[in-house]
Amino acid sequence: MKKIIDYITEETRKAFRAAGYDEKYAKVSISNRPDLCEYQCNGAMAAKKEYGMAPIKIAQDIVAAMQDSAVFEKAEAVMPGFINLTLSREFLACYLGEMAADPEHSVEKAETPQTIVVDYGGANVAKPLHVGHLRAAIIGESIKRMGRRLGHKVIGDVHLGDWGLQMGLIITELQERKPELPYFDPDFTGEYPAEAPFTISELEEIYPTASGKSKTDEAYKAKALQATYELQQGRRGYRALWDHIIRISVADLKKNYGRLDVHFDLWYGESDAQPYIPDMIRKMKEDGYAYEDQGALIVDVKEESDQKEVPPCMILKSDGASLYTTTDLATIVQRVQDYDPDEIIYVVDKRQEMHFIQTFRCAKKTGIAKDEMKLSFLGFGTMNGKDGKPFKTREGGVMRLENLIDDINREMFRKIVENRSVKDTDAEKTAEMVGLSALKYGDLSNQASKDYVFDVDRFTSFEGNTGPYILYTIVRIKSIMEKYRQEGGSADTGKILPASGDSEKNLMLQTARWNDALAGAFADKAPHRICAYIYELSNDFNSFYHDTRILSEENEEQRKSWISLLELVKEVLEDAIGVLGFSAPDRM
Ligand code: ARG
Repeated sequence: MKKIIDYITEETRKAFRAAGYDEKYAKVSISNRPDLCEYQCNGAMAAKKEYGMAPIKIAQDIVAAMQDSAVFEKAEAVMPGFINLTLSREFLACYLGEMAADPEHSVEKAETPQTIVVDYGGANVAKPLHVGHLRAAIIGESIKRMGRRLGHKVIGDVHLGDWGLQMGLIITELQERKPELPYFDPDFTGEYPAEAPFTISELEEIYPTASGKSKTDEAYKAKALQATYELQQGRRGYRALWDHIIRISVADLKKNYGRLDVHFDLWYGESDAQPYIPDMIRKMKEDGYAYEDQGALIVDVKEESDQKEVPPCMILKSDGASLYTTTDLATIVQRVQDYDPDEIIYVVDKRQEMHFIQTFRCAKKTGIAKDEMKLSFLGFGTMNGKDGKPFKTREGGVMRLENLIDDINREMFRKIVENRSVKDTDAEKTAEMVGLSALKYGDLSNQASKDYVFDVDRFTSFEGNTGPYILYTIVRIKSIMEKYRQEGGSADTGKILPASGDSEKNLMLQTARWNDALAGAFADKAPHRICAYIYELSNDFNSFYHDTRILSEENEEQRKSWISLLELVKEVLEDAIGVLGFSAPDRM
């Protein structure tokens, strides 16, 4: 469905034409003085130069041409030349009626759907999922869902860290502990056991131990480097061990991402890009982009206009080993081959920005990525504790994601039971649903690039700009509907009538902006704008609810109209939280 602002703009253009002015000046925006009007046009000011007239005079001419408009109830010219617009209640009701009848609730699907890969996991195999990966998962999932909602083909890839020194460290530590295992016997030719020689909890303890040892013990580190090298060369026993590590670790990761309602289409890792490296490097050399510098292979990526230094992209170290950048470049090769995407979006900690500047430039320069392909970096800030420092456990350690989720759910459970509206058996499940909204909304409501403070008390509050507040609003609407039905209200709800009061009109205006809010948020890759939209929508609903006795309204037509409006508001809210990545219970 066409956006309401497009109707308004069209009507304004008509008035510019009718009054003899160029319609290119007829730009309309949401009013920044909602106390005075709903929409505004500042075009008369911009037209001053061309027509050599006082803007107020131009504005008056335009406003005169708007007097019979079916879109505007009121159009006013005010000094120095603003045009203040107030929508006709009939027009607005009619727009909402169409929206209510539209299964997409007004959302317009992309005319030319794009293929977009979102790279947003980045978890490292054999290391527990920690809060550092939380933001990538939450923000990336929302970007993926927004894109899909708008009709794009979006592919989510977890891009696991499954290659490199951490693997060699684990192998080395395992060998110290269980040297008798066949994986370490170079002469072993039989079949390796199907069962892994460790559990996930052992694995999670092995890595930090090994990593710690390698920092103080040079010989140990050398062994780990050697094991990494041999694994990468395809040593059979190490490959078999690596398979076990991946299998056990991925099963655990899936469980944890599942609790966050985060789902990837591809469970590829850095290792999956390795086969693309040799050809890629050969071509870079042939084409003269890559050259040797002190034994290493590099590609220059600095540009004239750089404000800060952008170092060359290192493709191979002097010992011939590939790097993080090499893997990311090869992954682009792989993605182009598999999906030929229009865009790849990387949702990664913003501290990695330089790495992506280098990688993107190198990919474009060497032709790995076509000119038309967009490479976007959506860098996010740090999640801090109340002390303003990166979030830690009370003991000062790295917080595991599952413990964080448990903490939120426990607090949510306490608050819900206090509310007593839910039977205890449901309370746990409800707490999980509401807890997820607290966690995700707490993150998504901030502009992604900014750091934010993780505050369980605030995030789980039913009041203020929080996930539970949004869910509470939805649940409130659901319970009004239920009561309406219990009282024998018919399922065929009525036509939406023009607003009867200010709070109703505000609610209608905000509801009508859903398609615009979603499209704008996706264009800017800004889930926080959806949060801002639904926060305002919830506030508008709650003011309307406060002002209006819906179910005891005697006029049946009016009552039914309100029920239809409520149904639509609920659908929009549910649509919006769906793209944010959580859902609402029936009661809470
Ligand atoms: N595994 C990396 C880390 O933990 C993040 C990977 C991000 N994605 C990428 N394509 N580089 O830092």
